[in-house]
Amino acid sequence: MFDRIAGVYDRMNTVMTAGMHHRWRERAADLARVGPGDRVLDVATGTGDLAVELGRRVSPDGEVVGMDFSESMLDLARDKAPGIRFEAGNAHALAFADDEFAAATVGFGARNFSDLTCGLSEMVRVTRPGGRVVVLEITTPQRPPLSWFFSMWFDRVVPALGRLAGDPDAYGYLPSSVRRFPGPNDLAAELAGAGLEDVTYLLTAGGIIAIHAGTVTARS
Ligand SMILES: C[S@@+](CC[C@H](N)C(=O)[O-])C[C@H]1O[C@@H](n2cnc3c(N)ncnc32)[C@H](O)[C@@H]1O
Repeated sequence: MFDRIAGVYDRMNTVMTAGMHHRWRERAADLARVGPGDRVLDVATGTGDLAVELGRRVSPDGEVVGMDFSESMLDLARDKAPGIRFEAGNAHALAFADDEFAAATVGFGARNFSDLTCGLSEMVRVTRPGGRVVVLEITTPQRPPLSWFFSMWFDRVVPALGRLAGDPDAYGYLPSSVRRFPGPNDLAAELAGAGLEDVTYLLTAGGIIAIHAGTVTARS
C-alpha cells in the first residue's frame, strides 16, 4: 500500500494538514533533543521529512539514518535529501546494534506497526541510555466539537481526497488505523513499558496530533 501511494504522499500530507505537518515535525525533532555530532534513527521514515528536520539539528558532523520497508518511499526520500542515509528495513527487527543512536523517532508510522509493543521496544533497544524516543502520531479527540470535526474530516473528507488521488483504499485505511491506535494515556503507558522514563506528551492541532517523548532508562 505504501509503495502505491508514495507518488502522492507528500502532496496529500500538505492538502490534508493545510501544510501544518512541517511544524509538527519540527516539534517532534525538538523533543529528540539532538545536536551536532549525534546519530539519530528515523523509523518508518517514508519520504523522509522528519529525517530532514533531524538532519538540520545534527549537522555538520552527525548522521541521520532513515529506515522504511517501502522502496518507493525511500526512493523519494533519497531524491529529497541526498545527504541522509536511507535504508530498507523492518521496524519490528531493526538491523542496528543496542545503544547505537542518541535518539529514535517515528512520525505517523507507529500506527501502522503490526506489533506496536515490538516496534517501540526495538526503538528503545537501539537508543543509548539517556537518549530519547519520540512518537509523532494522529490521535482521536475525545470531546466535541473537535471529535465531530475529526469524524467529518476522517470519515468524509480524507476518503474523498483519497478517491481524487486515485487510491480510495489507502485513504480509507487511514481513519481506521487512527481509531484502533491507543489514545495518548495508553500510548504513554506503552512507552513506559518499553523502557522509557519521564514520558510526556503534548497535543496540538486541537487535540488531533499527539507527540510523545521519553528518555531511555539505564539498562540493568
Ligand atoms: C504514513 S507513512 C509516514 C512516513 C513518514 N514518517 C512521515 O512522517 O510522513 C508510514 C510509513 O511507515 C512505513 N512502515 C509501516 N510499517 C513499517 C514497518 N514495520 N517497518 C518499516 N516501515 C514501516 C510505511 O512504509 C510508510 O512509509
